[in-house]
Formats: sequence, C-alpha cells, structure tokens
Amino acid sequence: MATKAGGTGRFTQDEKRRDSDHVSFLKHRGFRWLWIALALSGAAIAGYLMIDQQPRPNGGTWYGYTLGTIGVLLILWLSLLGVRKRRINPGAWSLKAWTSAHVYLGLSLIVIGTLHTGFQIGWNVHTLAYVLMLLVIATGIYGVVVYTTLPASLSANRKEMTRAQMLEALTAIDRQLESAAQPLGREEADLVIAALEQDVFYGGALARLTNSYPGCATRKALHHMPQGAAEERVNALLEKRHEQLAQIRGQLRIRALLEVWLFVHIPLTIALIAALAAHVISVFYYW
Ligand code: HEM
Repeated sequence: MATKAGGTGRFTQDEKRRDSDHVSFLKHRGFRWLWIALALSGAAIAGYLMIDQQPRPNGGTWYGYTLGTIGVLLILWLSLLGVRKRRINPGAWSLKAWTSAHVYLGLSLIVIGTLHTGFQIGWNVHTLAYVLMLLVIATGIYGVVVYTTLPASLSANRKEMTRAQMLEALTAIDRQLESAAQPLGREEADLVIAALEQDVFYGGALARLTNSYPGCATRKALHHMPQGAAEERVNALLEKRHEQLAQIRGQLRIRALLEVWLFVHIPLTIALIAALAAHVISVFYYW
C-alpha cells in the first residue's frame, strides 16, 4: 500500500509509478473509483425514488435538470481523457487514475442518463443523445474487456519472440527458400518468387481483424507446388514460412482488436457531444 508523502495528500512520483506499473486500472487504489461511481449512482437512484412527484421526474423537472447537468459535465470531463492521453507532463493524476475514474464514472452515466430521461424515449434529438451515450459506453466496455484479456493472448502468441525476431525468422526462412528454389522449373519458381515478393504486412484493416488473407501468395504456392522429391525441401520451407506468417498475423490481429474499438469510441464521442449540444440548445430554446 502506498503511503502519502509529507502528509500533503499528494503521492510522490515514485509511488505513482509503482502503482501504475503493477496494478490494473480497474483495481486502481482499491477500486476507489468504483466505489465513488456506485455512491453517485446510488444517490441518483435514491433521489429519484424519494422525490414525491407524479409523473416521475424527467429532464424537465428540477431533479431532471440536476441529473442532466451532472451528466453533461461528466461527459465533457470523460472526453478530456483524449487530451490527457496526449499530454507529456504527467500532472497530479497518473494516466491510470484518469482511466480508472473514466471507466467507472462513465458507467455511472448509464444510471444518471437513464434517470434523467425519466424513461421517456422517442424519435427525437434527446433520445439520439441518450442512445449515442449508451453506444459510447458499450464500446468502452468492449475496450476494457480487450485491454484486460488480450495482452495475455498477445504474449502467448509471441512465444517469447519480439516482433523483430519474428521478422528475422521469416527472413532466414526466405533465404533458404531462395536457394532451395533454384533447381525448380519456371512455373514452380514463379510461385516461390511471388511468395517471397509479397509484402509481409499486405492486407487492409479487415484482413488484420479477421486474420483472413485470401490472396496469400505463400498459401497459393503451397497449394500449387507439386509433391515430388525435387520439391520436398521447398514445400517444407513454404510450410515453415506459412507458420511464421501465421504467428506474425496472429500478433497483428490481436493488436488490431486492441485498437479498433477506439476508432468507434472516439467518433461516437464527437457525435455525442454534437447531439448533446443540440439537445441542450433545443431544451432552452423551447423553455
Ligand atoms: C459517455 C461516456 C464516455 C465518453 C464521452 C468517453 C470518451 C472517451 C474519449 C474521448 C477517450 C479518449 C480516446 C483517445 O483519445 O484515445 C476515451 C478513452 C477510453 N474510454 Fe471512454 N468514454 C466514455 C465512457 C467510457 C466507458 C463507460 C468506458 C468503460 C467501461 C470507457 C473506456 C475507455 C477506455 C478503456 C479508454 C482508453 C484509455 C486508453 O487507451 O488509455 N469509456 N473515452
């Protein structure tokens, strides 16, 4: 357990680093932000239930305005994580503390936002903002799941090899393939040349995500290479090359899965802020 420095309530850089090295952002400081988010959600629910008002409070009541204001402020603060991530100066809070607060306070918006709507859903800009908020939260949950599960598969797939070592292993196989292919006929040699010349990183985002490379020249060479004695060594090397490529592509897939959700989370956040602005302006315009 980290101690506080000089009784100021501030943690030293060393303590901050230790915490951020070993503790998951979910468990940061004994789940501090989970408890704060639960307290906030609990208070919002209690307030909603205690207010003796019929019909139940919604966005247009004083309680609705209170929840709405808390919700907007929270969303704007959550959006600032993008700015914080890109700041070099660490500031008073570690990035881990920010992310932990982001995740749990972000989840509490499900309660705050839903109570703010007063369960009145319709085809309008208010519901659009609500739905966008839920979509941002859903992609965030996906992000947390991949951040906590995929790094294990990433290191399992690596088999103690670094990215550079994987590429070196491929280059070594390629050198052997090149000399083994010398005695081959024109057609077979062309298959090997095509495999060797294809960019290791060929394929777009979809290929990476789905790990499907239908135009893989190494696989094509394996399928079309005759099984004769002269081709035996070439076939064995092509097989090895295919396996090495599979490992590299497996790594690319996991990395893509780790990153892809941010390409949804961030644009949806921008759409949410735009819809929120429209929602707030329309509410005050018709007031
Ligand atoms: C309406 C609510 C939310 C908004 C507006 C929001 C917005 C953002 C923004 C702008 C970023 C920065 C992305 C970047 O620049 O790379 C971000 C990152 C992130 N968000 Fe959210 N978010 C919300 C809710 C959530 C929720 C509920 C979760 C999880 C349950 C979550 C999980 C994350 C994670 C894990 C990151 C990435 C942190 C990192 O890569 O270091 N978000 N979010």
